[in-house]
Amino acid sequence: MEEKTILCIGAGYVGGPTMAMIAAKCPDYTVLIVDINEERIKAWNSDELPIYEPGLDEVVKKTRGKNLFFSTDVAEGIKRAGIIFVSVNTPTKTFGEGAGKAADLQYWEKTARSIVQNAESDKIVIEKSTLPVRAAEAMHRILNSNSKGLSFEVLSNPEFLAEGTAIADLQNPDRVLIGAMETESGQKALKRIVDIYAHWVEKDKIRTANVWSSELSKLVSNAMLAQRISSVNSISAICEKTDANIEEVTSAMGLDSRIGSKFLKPGVGFGGSCFKKDILNLVYLCEHYNLPEVATYWEQVVLMNEYQEKRFVKKLVQTMFNTIAGKKIAVLGFAFKADTGDTRESPAIYISKWLLEERANLSIYDPKAIPNAKNDMKDVEGDIEYHYDPYEAVKGAHAIAVITDWQEFKTYDYQKIFDLMEKPAFIFDGRNVLDHKALYNMGFNIYPLGKQEMTHLN
Ligand code: UDX
Ligand code: UDX
Repeated sequence: MEEKTILCIGAGYVGGPTMAMIAAKCPDYTVLIVDINEERIKAWNSDELPIYEPGLDEVVKKTRGKNLFFSTDVAEGIKRAGIIFVSVNTPTKTFGEGAGKAADLQYWEKTARSIVQNAESDKIVIEKSTLPVRAAEAMHRILNSNSKGLSFEVLSNPEFLAEGTAIADLQNPDRVLIGAMETESGQKALKRIVDIYAHWVEKDKIRTANVWSSELSKLVSNAMLAQRISSVNSISAICEKTDANIEEVTSAMGLDSRIGSKFLKPGVGFGGSCFKKDILNLVYLCEHYNLPEVATYWEQVVLMNEYQEKRFVKKLVQTMFNTIAGKKIAVLGFAFKADTGDTRESPAIYISKWLLEERANLSIYDPKAIPNAKNDMKDVEGDIEYHYDPYEAVKGAHAIAVITDWQEFKTYDYQKIFDLMEKPAFIFDGRNVLDHKALYNMGFNIYPLGKQEMTHLN
C-alpha cells in the first residue's frame, strides 16, 4: 500500500495542481495532500478552490474523494505514504546571514524533521520546492540521522509549471526532470518516480540527472527566462527614445530560430513568486562560492526589472504634467500575469505604492485578484478604491494604467470609458494589450511600452 501512496506536504500553487494531475493520471496510486493551513485545506475540500487556475476545478472534481485527499493531518500522511513530495514555500530570507537573497529553508527543515519524527518505514523524499543547489545534501543528513534505523532517499523533481497554464503544462510538459543520488538506492528510488510520470508523459521527455544538476536546472531555467524579459524591457527603453517599435524588433529577432519567439513580450516587469526569489538565490550561491562576477551578472536581471517598474511610473508622472497629486488613476490589473488571481511580487504592488507616494488616488480593478490586492495594500497609506466592475473603476479617472495582460481588457467599450473619464484622458499600456490606434482615434492619449506615443496634446 505504502509503495503506491504519495504524500505532498504543502497545498499551494505548486503542490495542489501537481498532485491533482498525478491523481488523475495515476488511478492506481492514492495521493494525499496535507498543509498546516486549515483554511486552505477547507477550501481545497470545497467548491471554491483556494487558487484560480483554468482547468483545475475539473481535475480536482474528478479525483477528490476517490484517490486524491486533502487534509491537515501531516503526521498521518507521513505514516501512510512511501513517497513524499515536499512543496512548502522557500521564500527569500528576511533576516540574518544572506538576508534579501538566500532562500529561507526553515519550513523545509521543519518538514524534514517532521518526516523523521513520524515515519515508521523507509521513504523517498522529493524536493518539489525550489531549493539552493546542494540542499538535498543537508536534507539527506537530517533525515538519515534518525535513531529508528530508517533510511531516506532524497530526490529533486523541480516544477516548471507556469501559473495560468499550470494544468496544460502538467498535462503536456516540455520535460520532467528528476534528479537522484548516483548510488544504487538513489537510482532505485529514481525509477519509482519515473514510473509515476510515465503514466502520461512520453519517455524521452522524462529526463534524469544527478541531484545537483536537477536543483541547479530549476534555478537556471527561471533565471534565463527572467533574463530574456529584462533584456527585452531594457530594449523597450531604447525604442521609446529612438522611435523604433519593440514589437517589430522582437518579432524580427524572434524569427532567428536560435533565439526563438517566445518570452519576448515587453511589460512593466516580471512578477510572480519565483523569478526574483530564484535569481537572488542564484546570486547568493555565486557569492557563497566566491564567484562575484557571476553574481553581479545575474543580479542585474533583477535591477533591470526594478528599473522598468520605476520607469513606467516616472513616465506616467512626467506625461501628466509632472503631477498626479489628487488625480485618479485607474489601475487595470493587479495580478502578476493574466489568468491568475496571484499577486505575489506583482509589479502592480510596487507601481501602486509609488503612485500613492505621488499622492494619486487609486482605483483598482482586476477580474480575479481583488482579494489579494486588498491584502497586499492593507498597510499602505493612501486613497485606494477596489472595484469589481471596470467601468466603475474608470469613472472620473484622469488616466488608466494597464498593469496585467488580461485579454478581457481588449473587449471593453472604450467609447463609454472615454466618456466616463476626465479629459485629457491618458492610457499607459504597460503590457501593450490594447488597440492603440483605435483608442487614439477616439481621443485618448496613448503611451505604450517600447513604442511611439500617440498624443493629441501637441
Ligand atoms: C512553493 C515555493 O514558493 C516554490 O519555491 C516551490 O517551487 C514550490 O512551493 P507555491 O506552491 O506557489 O510554491 O507556494 P505556496 O502557495 O505558498 O504553498 C506552500 C504551502 O505550504 C502553503 O499552503 C503553506 O501553508 C504550506 N506549508 C508551509 C506547510 O504545509 N508546512 C510548512 O511548514 C510551511
Ligand atoms: C515561472 C516559470 O515560467 C515556470 O517555469 C516556473 O515553474 C515558475 O516561474 P510563472 O511565474 O507562473 O512561471 O509565470 P511566467 O509565465 O513565467 O511569467 C512570469 C512573469 O513574467 C509575469 O509577470 C509575466 O507577465 C512576465 N512575462 C512573461 C513578461 O513580462 N514577458 C514575457 O514575454 C513573459
